[in-house]
Amino acid sequence: MEYNQLDQIVTPLLEWYEADHRQLPWRETKDPYGVWVSEIMLQQTRVETVIPYYERFMQRCPTIVALASCEDEELLKLWEGLGYYSRVRNLKKAAQVICQCHEGIFPHTYDEILALPGIGEYTAGAVLSIAFEEARAAVDGNVMRVVTRLTQDRQDIMEAKFRRQVTEALEAVYPSKQRGDFTQSLMELGAVICVPNGEPLCAKCPLNALCGAYEQGTMMQYPVKKKKPDRRKERKTVLILRDQGRTAIRRRSAQGILSGMWELPNIDGVMTKQQITQWLADREIDVIELAEITRDGLQLKHIFTHIEWHMTCWLAVCSTVAEDSGLTWVTQEQLEQEIALPTAFKKCLKVFEDDRRRRQNDDK
Ligand code: ADE
Repeated sequence: MEYNQLDQIVTPLLEWYEADHRQLPWRETKDPYGVWVSEIMLQQTRVETVIPYYERFMQRCPTIVALASCEDEELLKLWEGLGYYSRVRNLKKAAQVICQCHEGIFPHTYDEILALPGIGEYTAGAVLSIAFEEARAAVDGNVMRVVTRLTQDRQDIMEAKFRRQVTEALEAVYPSKQRGDFTQSLMELGAVICVPNGEPLCAKCPLNALCGAYEQGTMMQYPVKKKKPDRRKERKTVLILRDQGRTAIRRRSAQGILSGMWELPNIDGVMTKQQITQWLADREIDVIELAEITRDGLQLKHIFTHIEWHMTCWLAVCSTVAEDSGLTWVTQEQLEQEIALPTAFKKCLKVFEDDRRRRQNDDK
């Protein structure tokens, strides 16, 4: 199939979508606010993961006004585990802009929407087509995979000009009705049929008769992605400082990755027991036990977009801690209910809990 034949996909795709799409909570609404929240959540996160987060978020912040005035800490807690926390910070900033500049009503022109914090061409296209039924495409990785297979396009999809080209080609064939459904049908096909990992389910695809890659049997060669993200490896020594059932946390700096979030105290690099003891002594933290809980040279790995953390974790049971150590001590309940702790550090706590349980069982 050539790009100028993309109009042929519209009818079979819409018929397939109508008959067969997944029921998802954000598909129950045409409210631009709900569509926007769902699209932001779905940007780096799988549908199944997003569902409970979306429902909880919409219950707590059912309107733009509610979101604009929700406390940061509560929002971060609602987002805990989804990662990429700047997404929720931008949601709130954008909600505040909408309250100040648009009387609390979601704007409906492309330029006004694109001007909001955290909203790019993809999200603007998704909201405009799904909530406002405009002929705007929302081109993400799923959609680019579908289109490159259909058209056997070997361009590097990481190039910005490629996304523009796909957007324009699709917008030229948007139907006059069911525009939101058309946007979602492309996403849906990419998610459930023309899948990213493993063989696509071409036998079930409503577009197989039109698909160039299917005809040639070359589906797995698309999309072409030339540039790999350069990920820097960083090693960290993470400390679980415990004092009478409480755990020490501190704020990350306002710059850099996970800026302003809570964290477990940690030191750059892989520290020896002596180095950790010195680090603690320098801060007037006395410990009665210090033991590594990531054993056998195992490191916990956490992947961000451009950085990989490899963490070794140590348990330090404290006896006395200087008042001005810069640490905040929280109970287990606070940690679970109130504090938004990034997943990287949750993984460390999980190792600690597993280790503790194992020791308790050994004692029995
Ligand atoms: N991925 C991105 N947007 C989506 C949507 N609206 N429905 C399902 N998956 C999606």
